[in-house]
Amino acid sequence: MEIKVVENVKSIESDILVVNLFEGERTSSDLANEYAVEQDNFKGKFGETYLLPTYGKEPFRKILIIGFGKKEEFCPNKLREAIAKAIKKCAQMEAKKVAFALDGIDFDYSEQFTMGVYIADYKFDKYKSEKKDKHVKEVFVKASEEGVRKAEKIAAAMNFTRNLANEPAQFATPTELANIAQDFGLETKIYDREECEKMGMGAFLAVGRGSSEEPKFIHMKYTCPNPKKRIAIIGKGICFDSGGLDIKPASSMLTMKDDMSGAACVLGIMSIIKEFNPQVEVHGIIAACENMPGCSAYKPGDILTAKNGKTIEVDNTDAEGRLTLADALCYACELGVDEVIDIATLTGACMVALGTHASGILGNNQELVDNLIETGKKNGEKFWQLPLWDEYFDSLKSEIADMKNTGSRWGGASAAGVFLQKFVKDVKWAHIDVAGTAFLDKPQKEFIAGSTGAGVRTLLNYILAQ
Ligand code: BES
Ligand code: MN
Ligand code: ZN
Repeated sequence: MEIKVVENVKSIESDILVVNLFEGERTSSDLANEYAVEQDNFKGKFGETYLLPTYGKEPFRKILIIGFGKKEEFCPNKLREAIAKAIKKCAQMEAKKVAFALDGIDFDYSEQFTMGVYIADYKFDKYKSEKKDKHVKEVFVKASEEGVRKAEKIAAAMNFTRNLANEPAQFATPTELANIAQDFGLETKIYDREECEKMGMGAFLAVGRGSSEEPKFIHMKYTCPNPKKRIAIIGKGICFDSGGLDIKPASSMLTMKDDMSGAACVLGIMSIIKEFNPQVEVHGIIAACENMPGCSAYKPGDILTAKNGKTIEVDNTDAEGRLTLADALCYACELGVDEVIDIATLTGACMVALGTHASGILGNNQELVDNLIETGKKNGEKFWQLPLWDEYFDSLKSEIADMKNTGSRWGGASAAGVFLQKFVKDVKWAHIDVAGTAFLDKPQKEFIAGSTGAGVRTLLNYILAQ
């Protein structure tokens, strides 16, 4: 798939020309009017489509009219969704060359147009022996070259993340993640089990003990002369979450290859960061392991010592993500960065609270949280802030250690947040819970089922805006 920026879209020889129509409106230059939109009941409601042949009278063989809905409700996010819908429709019809003649839009749509095209074009068919090649090959549009090329890279990072999170756990192992991280041409250090032991990562290592896969602690670093800011992004990297000895029921375990979606997000960002050359230092950090109930597995009641010396009583081996993140947070804080952002498929509770349309966000610095929420809004990702009040720690109090890893069923996303906070020191910190948003059971908006690449667009754009 390739997007070509052109001046005169309507003169391109294409299989389909896509034009837009706002509900109840008509614009003078609009081909939609010339080609009998009055027919039937096509009113231009959001996402509605209408297909017309041009009988060889035009350079394009068909016209696809796409409804943009009410003009006053239209925005870049709706544009992206509508474009994705049009691309899917064109691909279904086996169109290879598609031109877009967009009209009457009063904002620069270049970036969200491009995101819509690439998100819709995504498929994960590498394990299908018969590939049904229904991809649009060339897209023509009048847009800003700069916006298209920027978004193209962000979309590439998203696809990288989606591929990695969709990859079965048998292949996407901690060792594989470490190998991938070493391929980006960044300064990268991989710590093995022994080195992690020396660093005192007792919480992370405990989680990985029940698996025959070796744990890997991954640290990638992008830097530049005189960085304006130093940021660490940490991704939860549980390559498979069986629950451990507190084993999950089959239906909950089914999609747990996705429990490294945070790590996949960080890897996606680090895979492309050099191409943007941002004036900030970015550390990508992943504590990768599997949570399995093997004979060396950590047990309920065990007491673990994290890197900062704090002790944790294991209340439930299925609350493993926060244990691995605890050591990763300590490690990141010791780097002396200005900001730490972690992204994790951390709690079913967050998914219960917010569903699949919004990620949870918590943090110790309101400016950072607000900034991420705003960046998300502009780039098609919703974040909803959850509280980080001290009271949530009540349920994590332990009789015999500094804390337990779980407590009450209630307020689980916030309880996980206050747990993580015990490992954050003297740094601005935000925690993003993507348990509900990173991986879909069924198609939603522009996404097919499976990984969505949650967090990539927002965190990359956040880094680029510094
Ligand atoms: N990986 C899960 C959280 C999760 C649930 C992600 C659903 C994606 C979809 C996490 O490790 C987990 O098992 N959390 C437990 C915590 C509980 C034991 C306190 C949960 O949410 O049930
Ligand atoms: Mn778990
Ligand atoms: Zn997990």
